[in-house]
Amino acid sequence: MSNIIECRSLSFSYIDGNNQTSVLNNLNFEVELGDSIAILGQSGCGKSTLLNLIAGLDSPSEGDVLINNINIAKLNEKDRTELRSNNFGFVYQFHHLLNDFSSIYNVALPLLIRGDNKESAILNSKKILTKVGLENRLNHNPSELSGGERQRVAIARAMVTEPACILADEPTGNLDAKNAKDVLELILELNENNTTSLLIVTHDLSIANKMNRKLTLSNSKLVDI
Ligand SMILES: Nc1ncnc2c1ncn2[C@@H]1O[C@H](COP(=O)(O)OP(=O)(O)O)[C@@H](O)[C@H]1O
Ligand SMILES: [Mg+2]
Repeated sequence: MSNIIECRSLSFSYIDGNNQTSVLNNLNFEVELGDSIAILGQSGCGKSTLLNLIAGLDSPSEGDVLINNINIAKLNEKDRTELRSNNFGFVYQFHHLLNDFSSIYNVALPLLIRGDNKESAILNSKKILTKVGLENRLNHNPSELSGGERQRVAIARAMVTEPACILADEPTGNLDAKNAKDVLELILELNENNTTSLLIVTHDLSIANKMNRKLTLSNSKLVDI
């Protein structure tokens, strides 16, 4: 199996004036194609920092992050953005949808950005929004949707490009138990052929238990549990 993500001796510290906060220390960690992994750990232990490094939004203090065998920190900004959008779909705790755009356009946007023609982008956006049960909310803006519906649009947007890997940072943290369960089921359903790897940060053990691997981040180290 090939690795979509490989972290080698990865360390990261935030430096603020004379203060250095070590958050990750010498992590070695791989995500294979088709893996599903939950990352657990107390608030503040560095989970979001780790996802940011994997996405190339921050650069390691030491060590390397390889995405499809490419060292993301060594790329220029343009190539890094391209590598990121070619490989990842992102789901956050808060939906980060564009407020002035309808569900259709929010979901079509990553397709338009990568150069799909408008007609096919809209068609694929409608298809996936129908799959997530929002066929009657295609023209609604985020402010006209419930929290659970917004998160379903966000998941459709993350998965419409059929990315190699979903990076989800507490995707259900802002939802009640019922909506949280629905959202996870949806991610798993859209990934029915396991073609997309999942890396999900969560506090929810019922979600973590549905992944193939569970890791906990504690004292700057990742450990299998
Ligand atoms: N920009 C920053 N500057 C300094 N310290 C930061 C910054 N962002 C996060 N931190 C610190 O790094 C640690 C890890 O943060 P984070 O990765 O957000 O944790 P988690 O996602 O596990 O809750 C925390 O102690 C946090 O206070
Ligand atoms: Mg976090």
